[in-house]
Amino acid sequence: MAIPRDFINELIARIDIVDLIDRKVPLKKAGKNHSACCPFHSEKSPSFTVSRDKQFYHCFGCGAHGNAIDFVMEYDRLEFVDAIEELAGQLGLSVPREQGTGKRPDQGLSRDLYELMEEANLFYQSQLRQHTDKQKVIDYLSFRGLSDEVVEKFGIGFAPDGWDGLLGRYRQNQAAQDKLLTAGMLIANDNGKRYDRFRDRLMFPIRDRRGRVVGFGGRVLGDGTPKYLNSPETPIFHKGNELYGLYELKQKHRDPQHVLIVEGYMDVVALAQFGVDYAVASLGTATTAEQFQLLVRSAKQVICCYDGDRAGREAAWRALETALPLLKPGDQVKFMFLPQGEDPDTMVRKIGKEAFEALMQQAMLLPEFLFETLSNNHGADKGALAKQAIALIEKVQDTVLQNLLLENLAHKLGMNSSEDLKKKLGFAVKKAQPLNAKGIQGRGTPLRLAIALLVQHPHLGFGLEEQAALKRLKMPGVKLLGHLLEITREQSLNSAQLLELHREHEQKSTLIKLAQWDHQVADENVLLEFKQTLIWLYNQSIEQLYQELSLKQTLTKVEKLQLTKLISIIKGKAT
Ligand code: UTP
Ligand code: MN
Repeated sequence: MAIPRDFINELIARIDIVDLIDRKVPLKKAGKNHSACCPFHSEKSPSFTVSRDKQFYHCFGCGAHGNAIDFVMEYDRLEFVDAIEELAGQLGLSVPREQGTGKRPDQGLSRDLYELMEEANLFYQSQLRQHTDKQKVIDYLSFRGLSDEVVEKFGIGFAPDGWDGLLGRYRQNQAAQDKLLTAGMLIANDNGKRYDRFRDRLMFPIRDRRGRVVGFGGRVLGDGTPKYLNSPETPIFHKGNELYGLYELKQKHRDPQHVLIVEGYMDVVALAQFGVDYAVASLGTATTAEQFQLLVRSAKQVICCYDGDRAGREAAWRALETALPLLKPGDQVKFMFLPQGEDPDTMVRKIGKEAFEALMQQAMLLPEFLFETLSNNHGADKGALAKQAIALIEKVQDTVLQNLLLENLAHKLGMNSSEDLKKKLGFAVKKAQPLNAKGIQGRGTPLRLAIALLVQHPHLGFGLEEQAALKRLKMPGVKLLGHLLEITREQSLNSAQLLELHREHEQKSTLIKLAQWDHQVADENVLLEFKQTLIWLYNQSIEQLYQELSLKQTLTKVEKLQLTKLISIIKGKAT
């Protein structure tokens, strides 16, 4: 049963976030905003600010941010639906429910699942200290060279042999057993008989970003198969969205410089033990787009580490293909290959932290790895190389990286510059000096500014006529602007409401970033600047259309007329 959007919208409109937060964290007025020491991390001077206009909070220290719902979720540690209930309760409203496709799992249930997973985690850890078989586990740990500290840090435990080590603790509690089944900790056989999934294994708890145990990886203590048994997909565990070790990394470094992505649990743990405490592992699958997003959001530099063999190269290539469309200006992805027969665990033990980090320094940059692989794939066949290269380069959103790759390709193909190549391929050629961009430069692109202004002042879009030019403009981000204009045209919203509509949106994090971005446009100039960005975009679309038409071999009558008209518009601007 889903909660109607309108109700959530209404709730955000009626709650005042300053009052809400002030009751729990006393706020002081500071200029336009209110501020306090952040309740989500410890600090001595206040970097937590709350904006009444935007109905939004943001901490410059730890990055915590959100609207009233987020605050209640984080501060009171409530799930989404419970946070809504809480806020509605404060206003004396009851929460309506609608039949619907609401895919959100039952929040009450998932809260119980988290609790049971934590209990299981504590149980496995206790078995490492208490179980009669504990000596063989301790022997195995020392055989693998794991220190007590690192075992503690990662919460490594032991699932004892037998069918009911965990199950036995819930003999009288059918409801808990049902949930453990849902959480993947128990298995039911054909007769409905239940038993422990993890038996006689070393247990690695997998935590989500908030530190909640959502799954486990269990390793045999020796040579049995399967070597690792992992939790299945459950309502709280989606392999492709989690990274092993990310929570532990974030505990250590709030803003890591770089993240190293490796293949195994043991690799993450061994690296941490040796001081390379910024590694994470994708969970036994190829790195997914979601995992990459998480990584590039966590650190500017992501180093992907693989075995030097064929399988390692192939895995690295898949990672590259996944990463290409996701990269933003400034993101850096590198590829590192270990010598044959080594993995990060064995490597760091052999050569130590410093030499390992030196290897990391020599990792290949993405363009280097890309073209090296293409050359290996195609040898002297330049046509085939170009074809595969173009297919990849087309996916790149970051225009700086895209240009760099095109330069590289032109060079490979023996061309002097990438300009001809771009024209041939119809890549939108960026003008060095955008029309009318005066006064906007230095604050990110005009498009970014347009979106930021709209997110921070959604009323700018209210009643605005449709921007036809935006529809044909090809530029990353333009779709998002069009989408926001469509939403804000029809309803008068504040920032918090607009963001709430995008809680599940793929561009949510961009919107949140822009909502907090200090664009330095004075209040009285907001409307003017916004209009200017729209004019700039309109001009870009004219330029683009002109470029497209002038590159065409033959033009239809209509296109000829269009071109003449465009030329006169452009000339008109120049004078
Ligand atoms: P590896 O076979 O490289 O294992 O698998 P490892 O991490 O080096 O472990 P040790 O050193 O032999 O103990 C890499 C990752 O692939 C997944 C696990 O996530 C593992 O960490 N995997 C591997 C499985 O899920 N199941 C398996 O049977 C094997
Ligand atoms: Mn290994």
